[in-house]
Amino acid sequence: MKVITTADYGEMSDVGFELMKDVIKNTPDATLGLATGTTPLGLYDRLVGACCKKEISFKKIKTVNLDEYVGLGANDRQSYVYFMREHLFGRVDIDLKNTYLPDGLAADFRSECVRYDGILNAHPQSIQLLGLGRDGHIGFNEPGAPFDGHTHIVRLTETTVADNSRLFGEHETVPGSAITMGIADIMRAKRILMLVSGENKKQAVYDMIKGPVTEDCPASVLQRHPDVTVVLDRAAAGLL
Ligand code: GLP
Repeated sequence: MKVITTADYGEMSDVGFELMKDVIKNTPDATLGLATGTTPLGLYDRLVGACCKKEISFKKIKTVNLDEYVGLGANDRQSYVYFMREHLFGRVDIDLKNTYLPDGLAADFRSECVRYDGILNAHPQSIQLLGLGRDGHIGFNEPGAPFDGHTHIVRLTETTVADNSRLFGEHETVPGSAITMGIADIMRAKRILMLVSGENKKQAVYDMIKGPVTEDCPASVLQRHPDVTVVLDRAAAGLL
């Protein structure tokens, strides 16, 4: 695991951007595993800027996202499909047909998990971008998620619901469950890039890097992956 500590959120985003930009330049038809949350926003802005300047193109790029809330679809401002269109897909030259997310409005979630696993099998990630939950989750794989798991429905922990409620309006409620790639799907990526910012993540960062590899801290599984780069800001690195 390569760990890079940066001064702040901006520098963390710069380092993450350079790595992602190299993948896109070297492999113009790469599959990018993408994440939502506040952490990757700076990285996405930089990718948009580079695409506007024609330094990179998404024309042949494919994307697979980690997760989606159950019950939310493309018209819901809080859905991850909406987030991706607003922050990345709608601002670059990507073909929306090449962008995949689990469907939060599926009629039958058992078949939706099978459908999404099929998409992941067909599009192994050249690189998987990850954020980190305060409870050590990656995607929506909460503590206890099996390391050999594939796409599944998950009940969100109280910590996650509380953390994510900051992004919801006064009259909106955080869904109690989500559909997420499993840990085995994340570990299949050729490379993994994790970005972490903020003091409230420092314990999870410590457990992920220095702690035992245990399902109690889902991110600790990354110690077993051959090509992981973790980019931290100073606050997130506080316990290392
Ligand atoms: C969410 C997402 C994760 C994300 C994490 C951290 O629950 N499912 O993929 O990495 O929480 O979010 P943030 O970057 O806003 O701290």
